[in-house]
Amino acid sequence: MTQDTAISPAAQGRPAHSRRSGPLSGTMAVPGDKSISHRALMLGALAVGTTHIEGLLEGEDVHATAAALRAMGVTVVQDGPGVWHVDGVGVAGLHAPEDVLDLGNSGTSARLLCGLLAGHGFTAIMTGDGSLRKRPMNRVIAPLTEMGVRVETREGGRMPMSFTGSDTLLPIEYTLPVPSAQVKSAVLLAGLHAPGKTTVIEDVATRDHTERMLSHMGAEIEITETPDGRRITITGQTELSPVNVKVPSDPSSAAFPAVAAAIVPGSQVQLNGIGMNPARAGVFTSLSEMGADITSTNERDEGGEPVADLTIRAAALTGARIPAERAASMIDEYPVLAMAAACATGTTVFAGVGELRVKESDRLAAIETGLRACGVTVSTDSDSITIAGCGGPPPGGATIATQLDHRLAMSFLVFGLATENPVSIDDITPSETSFPGFADAMRALGADITEGDPA
Ligand code: S3P
Repeated sequence: MTQDTAISPAAQGRPAHSRRSGPLSGTMAVPGDKSISHRALMLGALAVGTTHIEGLLEGEDVHATAAALRAMGVTVVQDGPGVWHVDGVGVAGLHAPEDVLDLGNSGTSARLLCGLLAGHGFTAIMTGDGSLRKRPMNRVIAPLTEMGVRVETREGGRMPMSFTGSDTLLPIEYTLPVPSAQVKSAVLLAGLHAPGKTTVIEDVATRDHTERMLSHMGAEIEITETPDGRRITITGQTELSPVNVKVPSDPSSAAFPAVAAAIVPGSQVQLNGIGMNPARAGVFTSLSEMGADITSTNERDEGGEPVADLTIRAAALTGARIPAERAASMIDEYPVLAMAAACATGTTVFAGVGELRVKESDRLAAIETGLRACGVTVSTDSDSITIAGCGGPPPGGATIATQLDHRLAMSFLVFGLATENPVSIDDITPSETSFPGFADAMRALGADITEGDPA
């Protein structure tokens, strides 16, 4: 089959190609959790004293957070591979940055920093790459404006934006209009600077790393389950104590070798120390429901987060309905789960996934376009995706535009390991944002992935 081009390839970028591979085997060291790494740096910056971090993700997104904090007077130092320390400046101790804060591809950096900056009476200009500049910022600006910040954005609440915090923030009670851990975290971080109690109410539980870490650092945080949802209340203007943070391996990154092992016949892959926070681990539940052979052992608690060692063996997958209630716990894993669904027997439906439209790319559209180009029958509506599994190796044979989206790049490379014909992506470099060395790590398991022109 000849190579179809789904969307015209990026002008620049490093193409990569994956081909049907023999059984994958071995143990992969999955990089540190991206969400927890951002929070360790940011909360460490607000603590009084030195926070020591082990297993920090050294991806571009986390480097963007580190650089922004340095630009505001925080000492952030790498002591060794994955080993970092942050000398905190105390709550409200940041300095005005002299230059624009460029947050690259990282929505988490941009939105959580808004919360961190809210209680500082200075102006910061924030921007990002072509993907981040398209993403909606009004969802954080709305509650923070109620608390007293002033923000000017480009049309549609897009960055670049000028963000002016306030020394006299007001505490608020805020019900999240969309399930978003970034918005919840921004309000809680702002609440740390406001007098009295700030409350966030979420009717769907989103990742709770901010709450866990704040409470570990001595903040006054109260969480109650109510008929309206989960109420998280923080009492502001208390100092944070530095802690030692051990960052678990990222379940979102583990999902790539996990799906690869599930769909490449004869594979067995070991992934140790994977974060299994229930608000994050939905992808493993979904894969298991589809018939994947996943064994979890050595389940333990590390630094306030549940972790486990996972063994994944190839298995015949069947289609499943993945319920909307699970969406928040696997929101970043739909692209790679879509690849598993395309290899399965029967139909898979992802319900309640409208938020995929505002990720690093419009992932709903990108999954549809990319899988179709690879010969898979897919349909979408505003809030769901339906994939007709091929019940064996899907055709493949297309080039996918990764649109500055790391998870699209890695998902389609995983897909090509199980398709009849090679799958190419126009640019593998976005994978560096969350999974440095992805292609090398996959090749070490036996994946046939090559980089450069042509396939
Ligand atoms: C994140 C929250 C999620 C997720 C993102 C990381 C976080 O975004 O998609 O990759 O670290 O809080 P939303 O808050 O937009 O759902």
